[in-house]
Amino acid sequence: MNRRDFIKNTCSLACACVGVSSLSLLQSCEDNKAYEQNVDDDNNDGDNDIQFSIDISQAPHQNLESIGGTSALPPNSIDSLGLLLIRSSDNNIKAFSRRCTHSSYSVNAFNSQGLAVCSSGHGGSFNTSGSVAAGPPSARLTSYSTSLNESILTISK
Ligand code: FES
Repeated sequence: MNRRDFIKNTCSLACACVGVSSLSLLQSCEDNKAYEQNVDDDNNDGDNDIQFSIDISQAPHQNLESIGGTSALPPNSIDSLGLLLIRSSDNNIKAFSRRCTHSSYSVNAFNSQGLAVCSSGHGGSFNTSGSVAAGPPSARLTSYSTSLNESILTISK
């Protein structure tokens, strides 16, 4: 094999590997998307008409399969700053807004002490019940209704 053939073969192999990896990555992203959906029934029956669903058996939400487990969601159709989630019992997962009630900065995901610390640097934090753990916020986090059907968590607004 001459030098030209070697380079040609090596480049072809490298391109094939990159192509397969990219396809797997795209497929993976597509799989995650399949668990998120918005339903707007908008039939004026007084029901919640925006819903957002995730599969808690899928990464990155598998912590929610155990009581006390937490997770966080980025901005979505329910809340423009995202959601904090905590498994409070066998059949209940609580959902809170990540919007701090002091000055609307984003609240970080729950840490290992069960506190969600505000990103503002003002010193505010919230516990896993959504209540204020440290000032200056004076009000608890907004909560949203949820339902859990096997591994599908639906949050409604
Ligand atoms: S905005 Fe959260 S503590 Fe001030």
